[in-house]
Amino acid sequence: MRHFLDLADWSSEELMRLIDEAVFLKKEFRTGGNRPILQGKSLAMVFQKPSLRTRVSFEMGMQQLGGYALYISPNEIGLGKRESIADVARVLGGYVNGVMARVFAHEHVTELAKWSPVPIINGLSDYNHPCQAMADVLTIYEEFGQLRDLTVAYLGDSNNVTRSLLIAAAKFGFKMVVSSPEGYSLDQEVIAKARGIAGYEVVQLITDPQEAVRNADVIYTDTWTSMGQEDEAEQRRKVFPPYQVNYPLLQMAPAHTIVMHCLPAHRGEEITDSVADGPQSRLFPQAENRLHAQKAILVQLLR
Ligand code: CP
Ligand code: NVA
Repeated sequence: MRHFLDLADWSSEELMRLIDEAVFLKKEFRTGGNRPILQGKSLAMVFQKPSLRTRVSFEMGMQQLGGYALYISPNEIGLGKRESIADVARVLGGYVNGVMARVFAHEHVTELAKWSPVPIINGLSDYNHPCQAMADVLTIYEEFGQLRDLTVAYLGDSNNVTRSLLIAAAKFGFKMVVSSPEGYSLDQEVIAKARGIAGYEVVQLITDPQEAVRNADVIYTDTWTSMGQEDEAEQRRKVFPPYQVNYPLLQMAPAHTIVMHCLPAHRGEEITDSVADGPQSRLFPQAENRLHAQKAILVQLLR
């Protein structure tokens, strides 16, 4: 049984085929609509955390492909609390053709996958966010027409989004510069994993944010406080301001640089309005691309 838990589990060729399929499905959708490739197929969407993009893009994606999506809110099934994850996986597998899960502990998606008779898609865990990275790659690919030799400078908190983006870099052949305050940088494990996949120097850690963006084709940022870290928000607000993506910082990067953010944005914290709404911003095409990238994943796993 194939699952979509981590880009590291898929080969570069498979992932590039998913991007090509996403490009195709996007074009097809915009020129008359998608064929009902997933007619009669259903997806359960299990959420332990809130969501706008993940929930709506998976639900609409299934609908546009002729299938059905069922939203299950954080209070409903109590993954691992009301019922064991192994039991939830096997019960859901009797009703639906696939499960998308957004969880706190990454072990919850791996445990679901261990027991599930149907494909599991990771819709974000504390560890990673592979669907986001696929939408990000699609956005970068559309912008530059290729991926190799590009540099993505990620500023701020090295989190789930950063980890998946780094594995995407290793798989698709681009480079990352990561600029985080001390104590909030990438863990050595994920760096070693990415280097092992890439076979080239895929990531550079540069503490100075101005230095970090100097050769960037893409500047990327995310919230300073991820879901589940709310208790640390005040402390984080003291540490992260030098890593804000603002207009003066953008001036330090090449003129062609685009700005990305997985959203939701905390405007005035990690990104300013002038950048988020400025000509170099790709925030909303990027958000839209969640739909197209995930439809390719759904078709691959459920058809
Ligand atoms: N980027 C993203 O995953 O957004 P949501 O949390 O709204 O799903
Ligand atoms: N790093 C953020 C991403 C939200 C899509 C979080 O985990 O809250």
